[in-house]
Amino acid sequence: MPRRPMMAGNWKMNKTVAEAQEYTAGLLPRAADAEEVDVAVFAPFTCLHEVARMSEGSAVIAGAQNFYYEDSGAFTGEVSAPMLLDLGARAVIVGHSERRELFGETDEMVARKARRAVQAGLLPVVCVGETKEERDSSPDGMWEKVSGQVGRVIEDLEDAGGEDLIFAYEPIWAIGTGETATPDDAQDAIGKIRDLLRESRGEGFAEGVRILYGGSVKPGNAAEIMAQRDVDGALVGGASLEVESFVELIEAAQNSVSRQD
Ligand code: 13P
Repeated sequence: MPRRPMMAGNWKMNKTVAEAQEYTAGLLPRAADAEEVDVAVFAPFTCLHEVARMSEGSAVIAGAQNFYYEDSGAFTGEVSAPMLLDLGARAVIVGHSERRELFGETDEMVARKARRAVQAGLLPVVCVGETKEERDSSPDGMWEKVSGQVGRVIEDLEDAGGEDLIFAYEPIWAIGTGETATPDDAQDAIGKIRDLLRESRGEGFAEGVRILYGGSVKPGNAAEIMAQRDVDGALVGGASLEVESFVELIEAAQNSVSRQD
């Protein structure tokens, strides 16, 4: 079975409830046309309920950008997996580099979150990626960082199937900078991630896991990134904030399927 591509928008800390409503109303009819692509919107907690409510029964998957791995208790400011499910979320970003770099999330925390999400029935989109310094620190600097991040996550997911999680390779130097990894860079990293999954968990698991690319994806570069063999979609920040450019990205994903047929 070929993997179903995903085009995912990460709104980060953007949009009021009214803006989210307007966006979702504009996106729903357009996303319905992309029959062979999963479309996901990762909204802030404050408007997630509205996005999930409006998207119910549609092609759009509503997701959160973060959560905490305990279900309830004295964790001021945190939101749990049952709370996200209660809102209608079906997916969650885990370990985004902004969480790791700005809010101190460790590989250990990311692994616990990924495990809890899978157990709870939320689809985790686990982000991995290296800084420019890490990439340039040795000939294999990218892989030294990324292999550790991926390895730590799958260590805790011994009961999961490949379809239960998604990875997103997001080189930190390409996020919000306008500097995109070349399609070859994206394929190189994502191909290596799939090889690692194959070595550690077998062919069936590795072939089931969707692996997205993220970092300055725009309508102008999406098609060549999507054309890479192991790239199953994109996690998009800036270019997902307007319906029109996000729809162009969804169409690029849809066209990548048509080209394979
Ligand atoms: P940009 O698309 O704005 O570079 O952001 C990428 C990202 O971090 C998505 O999670």
